[in-house]
Amino acid sequence: MNIAVITPIKHLPGVQQLIENKGSVFYLEGGSKYEVRNLLLTKNIDTILCNPNQQTYKIDKELLEGTQVSLINTCSTGMNHIDVDYCSCVNITIYSLTKDYELIKQLPSTSELAFGLMLSLLRKIPESNQHTLNYQWDYTQFVGRQIKDLKIGIIGYGRLGKMMDGYCKAFGAKTFIFDPYVDIPQTSLEQMFQECDVISLHVHVTDETKYMISSKLLGLAKKDLYIINTSRGEIVNENDIVEALITGRLTGYGADVIENEFDDLTKSPILRVMNKGYNIIVTPHIGGMTIEGQTKAYKWAINKL
Ligand SMILES: NC(=O)c1ccc[n+]([C@@H]2O[C@H](COP(=O)([O-])OP(=O)(O)OC[C@H]3O[C@@H](n4cnc5c(N)ncnc54)[C@H](O)[C@@H]3O)[C@@H](O)[C@H]2O)c1
Repeated sequence: MNIAVITPIKHLPGVQQLIENKGSVFYLEGGSKYEVRNLLLTKNIDTILCNPNQQTYKIDKELLEGTQVSLINTCSTGMNHIDVDYCSCVNITIYSLTKDYELIKQLPSTSELAFGLMLSLLRKIPESNQHTLNYQWDYTQFVGRQIKDLKIGIIGYGRLGKMMDGYCKAFGAKTFIFDPYVDIPQTSLEQMFQECDVISLHVHVTDETKYMISSKLLGLAKKDLYIINTSRGEIVNENDIVEALITGRLTGYGADVIENEFDDLTKSPILRVMNKGYNIIVTPHIGGMTIEGQTKAYKWAINKL
């Protein structure tokens, strides 16, 4: 087996050794699409190990055509970094963690980040830190909100939504759930926007969820609403989010994802207004990126080979 590892793994204890026991391994961390294609062709690669988080291009026909790749093993639950339709047409097998429930229920990192983004927005932690970096010491600009007794809406009550719910309750917040596919008491989206102080998104992108958060719901928002998005950029209409921040309909937006992460980032409506004084925090898709979670997930993925 000739394996191309196009995602960083060398920092994870025991992972490099594990994959090197599976075949000849060629590492190309952070390579361009052109460089990866070159590696696939020159080393007769049949297997790719990847992860979406650092990839700036899609694994598609342009990358794969004419290569010997027959298996793509992505260490992720999401697959929007791979042209799945093309792979299925040319019989390239894809392994992902999407249905590896036994593993993924042990991976709380993304929910922990969602909670961290919420806390950072509510307590203005990034701006406070920026302040002291400039040798300033004035708390008055940084009076925040406490989580206890806040109303927090959770959209999507699957693996990560449930964990977020638990963390919020542990801090004394009152939570409200919208997930029509789970049998628990529901709060409608409209009611959630009218009543909640924070709304956190935990759904996959589907025809139903794409752009589900748009100006229609944002227009109903209670004063001082914060939205946390660790799901996918496409769950919200980012132009509407920016508009709501500008008009004050939305007080803060904390995201680990943006639409078109693989595209020219200067086109992102969210990133373009980030330095204009709005209350936005964006992290570069680090939700699952913890040593503990990554080590567990990569070992699991590699053991499938
Ligand atoms: N930021 C990161 O690094 C990172 C890491 C892992 C997962 N994620 C993302 O987090 C999201 C949630 O992942 P998960 O593992 O909890 O998924 P999951 O499948 O366990 O849960 C998703 C839930 O959404 C619900 N749902 C489906 N359609 C809905 C709708 N129209 N309205 C409300 N709820 C709906 C489903 O019933 C399900 O309970 C995904 O988008 C995933 O890609 C991000």
